[in-house]
Amino acid sequence: MTENTSQQDPKTQVETARKAFEEEFEDFVRLGDYAEVLKLPLVEALLKRKEFEEFCRRYTGKKGTIASLKKLIGQSGPDKRAILGSQVQQLEKWISDRTNQVHYSLSAYIQQSQLERDRIDVTLPGRRPRRGHIHPITRLRERVEDIFVSLGYAIEDDREIETDFYNFDALNIPANHPARASQDTFYTTEGFALRSQTSTVQIHAMQRRGAPLRMIAPGRVFRRDTPDPTHNPMFFQVEGLCVDRGITMAHLKGTVAEFLRRMFGAQTVTRFRPSYFPFTEPSAEFDFSCFKCGGRGCRICKQSGWIELGGSGMVHPNVLRIAGVDPEIYSGFAFGLGIDRMCALMYGLDDIRLLFENDVRFLEQFD
Ligand code: DAH
Repeated sequence: MTENTSQQDPKTQVETARKAFEEEFEDFVRLGDYAEVLKLPLVEALLKRKEFEEFCRRYTGKKGTIASLKKLIGQSGPDKRAILGSQVQQLEKWISDRTNQVHYSLSAYIQQSQLERDRIDVTLPGRRPRRGHIHPITRLRERVEDIFVSLGYAIEDDREIETDFYNFDALNIPANHPARASQDTFYTTEGFALRSQTSTVQIHAMQRRGAPLRMIAPGRVFRRDTPDPTHNPMFFQVEGLCVDRGITMAHLKGTVAEFLRRMFGAQTVTRFRPSYFPFTEPSAEFDFSCFKCGGRGCRICKQSGWIELGGSGMVHPNVLRIAGVDPEIYSGFAFGLGIDRMCALMYGLDDIRLLFENDVRFLEQFD
């Protein structure tokens, strides 16, 4: 509309508005043709629709040209009012007829393209959720458990924070024993410490179940060791205990040897070496023939042909007595072994700490 619009008579104003619309509409008219719209990329179509809507608003919006022309109707004399009214109405209809087609084709095209863009492509490969798996130590522990359960053993689980009584006294560990020293044990509060061996469970189990008894107790133990390739302040052990009438060292040897044969194969040989533990008498450590070289000597067994695995012995009468079992009637054997060390050996790890760092890049190799 030109500047002096308001000075023009209303009829001319309607005509001027129509011309102005027609001129501007030139830019959009081709968009009424769907085939033309199809040539546009979606972003451009969105842009065009925005421009087009602004353009329409200037004519048909609340503050648009048509609205201001309608105001003129009321201001004009009664004789002209009817004519002007119908002229404005015609213009309005004419504009909406012309713009409808453009609105329609742009919107139809945009809707269609967006639908296509968002459509799920069923031929794309799915995103596989990352699946975890059992930690190698847990897997080994479960194998140990399976073997002993099949031999008639129960599985015991017990506390990791212990009193001095279960940690030391009940296990026949004298007051001056180095294991009591604070450089070896993590003390918590007075009279409590993190267990440094699963042997503590022997006492709880005998107190709870009495004799006869066959159990293993896998679990965490804690020692004040500085971490290095073969040490970690927290590691895993499995304790074993068998108490009954007439139990002898032969039962101990037979049980440990059978366990190791099932674990590492029928050809596995076990040997016992005399040793000392406060809670067993006599005591022995046991080794088994290297699962890698069969005893000839290799890197894993450090050329010795044997792998050291744990300690064992006949339960000391003091231990039986303090746990409420009569050593005159019953005898028993016990053993303890480290699972992490076994795990590190089996998987050929040269640093035991890898097992505790929980780095998925390491762990996912053991699926
Ligand atoms: N508790 C011992 C350790 O941590 C291992 C052990 C030795 C357990 C002899 C026993 C046993 O039950 O009888 O080295």
